[in-house]
Amino acid sequence: MSLPEKGRDVEELLAEISRLKQDDLPVRGGKVTAYVYDTGRPQVHEAAARAYFEMLEVNTLDPTAFPSVVEMERQVVGAVAELLGGGCGIFTSGGTESIMLAVKAARDFRPVAGRPRMVVPVTAHPAFHKAAHYLGVTVDAVPVDPMTFRASVAAVEAAITEDTVLVVASAPSYPQGVVDPVAEMAAIASERGVLCHVDACVGGWLLPWLREAGAQVPPFDLSVPGITSLSCDLHKFGYSPKGASVVLFADPALRRRAYFASASWPGYTVINATVQSSKSAGPLGGAWATLQALGRDGYLELGRATLAAARRLREGIARIPGLRVLGDPESALVAFGSDEVDVFVLSDEARKRGWFLQPQLSYAGIPANIHITVTGVTLRGVEAMLEVIAESARAARERGPVTLPAGLVELVASLDLDALDDAAFGELAASVGVDLGGSGQPEMAVVNAVLDALPASRREAILIRFLSVIYA
Ligand SMILES: Cc1ncc(COP(=O)(O)O)c(C=O)c1O
Repeated sequence: MSLPEKGRDVEELLAEISRLKQDDLPVRGGKVTAYVYDTGRPQVHEAAARAYFEMLEVNTLDPTAFPSVVEMERQVVGAVAELLGGGCGIFTSGGTESIMLAVKAARDFRPVAGRPRMVVPVTAHPAFHKAAHYLGVTVDAVPVDPMTFRASVAAVEAAITEDTVLVVASAPSYPQGVVDPVAEMAAIASERGVLCHVDACVGGWLLPWLREAGAQVPPFDLSVPGITSLSCDLHKFGYSPKGASVVLFADPALRRRAYFASASWPGYTVINATVQSSKSAGPLGGAWATLQALGRDGYLELGRATLAAARRLREGIARIPGLRVLGDPESALVAFGSDEVDVFVLSDEARKRGWFLQPQLSYAGIPANIHITVTGVTLRGVEAMLEVIAESARAARERGPVTLPAGLVELVASLDLDALDDAAFGELAASVGVDLGGSGQPEMAVVNAVLDALPASRREAILIRFLSVIYA
């Protein structure tokens, strides 16, 4: 875009946005089984959108200038604390920011002699690796049980050192939707004088409702001894618009370590509870309104529907020839793999049929698989979803696994990326049939198969290059 010479009319702009969005996955309706969370209740989304808009231009930078922010945040954080075992908290822009603040608080709470370290199961979200990268903390990755996908308590215990500042547990971890042995991990951390964070970004605002609806959910919140902080995303199963998460701390002294203040310049005084400084209060307004518009009843009803859909999906997938559900998840996240059909081809086949099923690469001994996040809206389309999975599995079986050009993986593995500029990288991808400049809904099986064959560090280098090329 070049800046228009004269300002343009709003209707024209909105029409253009519609055109820009025409290849996007749909955010409503339940056919996209990751990224988006749909209640299936338009009036709730409308309440959120209107409240978001109402708070849009309020800047959370200075709580003394906009006291509405303090009151709203107190109410939202208070609701989360009430459901999840108490504590005090911070409203943040998402799971990653909540985790970043929990890691910062842990790093600064009890300074260690060496470089600070944290113990992180391999199934924990990459936000912990990102926080470690930004904050100068070393990750000690620990394995999970190969059958249950839950963190190994013995491995956690063995990985704690003098310099460990944090042990991480997930409730649930995203890839297979299972809850780590949170209480045991917290007890071990506490015995060794180490803080323990529970990543309940996905589960915090889901598991309590599933439990009330009849699911077996182990204790995972701040009421469990030894848990010192917990993250809970309202923009996931809270169904709020994006930009809404809460990080809770058991102790206000720990929360203070997450804060930042600076008076070291001649400008206005900076006090930040979050990574961002100036930011819109829109997401806070949206989250506040969503909680109020749904209420306990609404969440419980969504929880019941979610539980019923997740059970039906697990049982239905297990009956599809060649597919198997991974682990025995307590949550509403379902992953399935196959020894007979290529799951990356299956995912492309589903996409052709108008459904997005999220592929996950193999890692740490866990095979490549497909991930489905079941939400409040899934139940009404669960039979259709199962049919699409069965049809896509049949089609994938007929097509057979992706065959990569001979030597491609070796070539990508040995590429000197520093010697290639973005244009040359794009040309190389095109030469093997991968169009990085393409629009629409792309076939991803080849890309996923190549990535799957590479070690994680190489995958990361290639993904960073991909990002650089698509934003060229
Ligand atoms: C378990 C878990 N933690 C953290 C995150 C990161 O959340 P966000 O994408 O809001 O930063 C996610 C996202 O899916 C997640 O599943």
